[in-house]
Amino acid sequence: MGELFETVAAQPPQDKRRVRVIGIGTGDPGQLSGEAIAALTSVAYVIAADKGGGDPLLDVRRRLCERYGVDLVAVRDPERDRDDPADYPGVVRDWHAARVDAYADVLAECPGDAAFLVWGDPAFYDSTLRVVEDLAARLRLACDVIPGISAPQLLAARHRIVLHGIGQPILVTTGRRLADAVIAGHDNIVVMLDGTLACLELDPDGWQIWWGANLGSDDEVLVAGRLADVADDLLRAREAVKARAGWVMDTYLLRRVEARQVPSGA
Ligand SMILES: C[S@@+](CC[C@H](N)C(=O)[O-])C[C@H]1O[C@@H](n2cnc3c(N)ncnc32)[C@H](O)[C@@H]1O
Repeated sequence: MGELFETVAAQPPQDKRRVRVIGIGTGDPGQLSGEAIAALTSVAYVIAADKGGGDPLLDVRRRLCERYGVDLVAVRDPERDRDDPADYPGVVRDWHAARVDAYADVLAECPGDAAFLVWGDPAFYDSTLRVVEDLAARLRLACDVIPGISAPQLLAARHRIVLHGIGQPILVTTGRRLADAVIAGHDNIVVMLDGTLACLELDPDGWQIWWGANLGSDDEVLVAGRLADVADDLLRAREAVKARAGWVMDTYLLRRVEARQVPSGA
């Protein structure tokens, strides 16, 4: 059995230099757990990608570091070749390798434990753990993960709903894959990474939506109802929050109307 299954120690070894991956929630510093604050204040510095152009996510990380008195090392994010969508996996692989190289340089130069602050939770649509795994193998580092509140969790809390019916499954997917998920028969779907409100392509009478944008920020906005009734509200709210905040990130739960379970709180 030992050969088939990798076992992971609950605690990383204390004698190794550590990289700590800390979930910071989706915008509000109040979402940081006690464990996350303890981890953040334990490290010598935070490494953060700088995507340029006044990167708002870098600003969030910078403010957190200032608040807790931790140094931040901003690393210019390597350019991603967006001109060759035909080789998307290859483009992502090269970009990932360039990120690992850039962070390895920082770790080689700056001693002590380091942290990466991950938007939401590292378990949802985030590549930090893949990057850190490569760094840990290359530099013989220990790594641990402190969870954060992810966008779907905050969405559920704000709408006061359970994301699934009793004993029912839930699919978490992207806007690009939504149509396939519906064709495959899923009727309880959380959508992330959707720049175009792909839900508006579905049968508007067939689906109920619970939508939220910029959750956890001052510009947070919620819309809920049958797609047919709220489609215009969604478009308007999305544009308005983008104009007000200068950025928009949204996520939503879709449930087929004929599905028997209705979330509590709806
Ligand atoms: C790259 S993924 C990161 C997800 C993150 N790791 C999490 O746990 O929520 C980014 C997507 O998460 C969702 N998201 C992140 N922050 C959000 C927010 N404040 N409000 C609404 N959706 C958010 C959006 O669907 C966005 O496209």
